[in-house]
Amino acid sequence: QEHWNVEYPNCGGNMQSPINIDMGRTIFSPDLRPIQLSGYSLPAKEKLRLKNNGHTVQLELPESLAITGGYAQQYRAVQLHLHWGSLSGPGSEHTVNGRRFAAEIHVVHYNTKYDGVEEAMIYPDGLAVLGAFLEVGPRENPYYREILDHLYKIQGKGEEVFVPGFDIAGLLPANLKLYFHYNGSLTTPPCYQTVKWTVFNQTVLLSRDQMSMLVTHLRNDDNNLLQNNYRPVQNLHGRWVLASFQTTHSVVKQLPPGKDEGSTTAGESSSFHAGDVLAVLFGVLFAVTALAFLLYIYKHRSQNTRLDSPTKSKVIYTAASTENTV
Ligand SMILES: *[C@@H]1O[C@H](CO)[C@@H](O)[C@H](O)[C@H]1NC(C)=O
Ligand SMILES: *[C@@H]1O[C@H](CO)[C@@H](O)[C@H](O)[C@H]1NC(C)=O
Ligand SMILES: [Zn+2]
Repeated sequence: QEHWNVEYPNCGGNMQSPINIDMGRTIFSPDLRPIQLSGYSLPAKEKLRLKNNGHTVQLELPESLAITGGYAQQYRAVQLHLHWGSLSGPGSEHTVNGRRFAAEIHVVHYNTKYDGVEEAMIYPDGLAVLGAFLEVGPRENPYYREILDHLYKIQGKGEEVFVPGFDIAGLLPANLKLYFHYNGSLTTPPCYQTVKWTVFNQTVLLSRDQMSMLVTHLRNDDNNLLQNNYRPVQNLHGRWVLASFQTTHSVVKQLPPGKDEGSTTAGESSSFHAGDVLAVLFGVLFAVTALAFLLYIYKHRSQNTRLDSPTKSKVIYTAASTENTV
């Protein structure tokens, strides 16, 4: 992996994936709408190619699957694949607050304004990948069964099998409203920096047996077990990670209505600035008010002391002229 950039210079770029998502540094963006999927529920009579390509298990997806909400443009699905660890360690690609999850699913889509994924992947707005973390839970996951039950038939690199269609959306979390969003890359060569990433906050649960099945069935080109097929996290290089929801320490970013996330890089830093200025302004205002109040108290106290003092009392009592004016 350290040598990828010799043959593929993009792999050494400054917008690479995966990344660690530091929730305290995400920017809450209320304008990030829920991800909406269409055509994801496939009939069993539609057969899908499932392949061990030596790096992952990949399920080819028909053109009918699309992202129809949450992104500014329309994206069509091409394939999904998984990343995992081993029996002794987790293997998600992204991490959250430094935590790696057991496994991760990536559903790869391309922008419908291009002729196909090959053409789309060289343009900055070419690809959209939906990512979700897989964890061990108490129950068997029926959607993942549709993939895992066939792994034993494609143990060797290059082997493939056709599997019946099912509801592909079942492989993703139920909640598509909560997610992180950032600009990144493919996590394998050629590492094109053309992926608008969505990483869901909700995780997907598989049984322990299912997770074991995933990490022990496939072999790579050296005929060793295909395990730990994740890329290490890459430097953010100053990129923003947006969150569609408010995390405890996240910074709030409010965009003018009707503006999409595609055009606000400059606005982000200036709204940051405006927030800081406001905070200082209110601080100063408070200090001035407190000072004025203290001065007022002090003045009144010293006036009262003057009244009490016998030397000054004469002055008060001799002010008869004020009575005349009334
Ligand atoms: C989801 O968000 C909650 C808090 O809002 C956080 O505790 C949790 O770690 C997040 N999980 C992921 C996978 O992002
Ligand atoms: C992603 O890149 C686009 C195009 O350069 C930019 O307008 C947008 O603000 C970026 N999004 C984030 C979350 O930084
Ligand atoms: Zn991937």
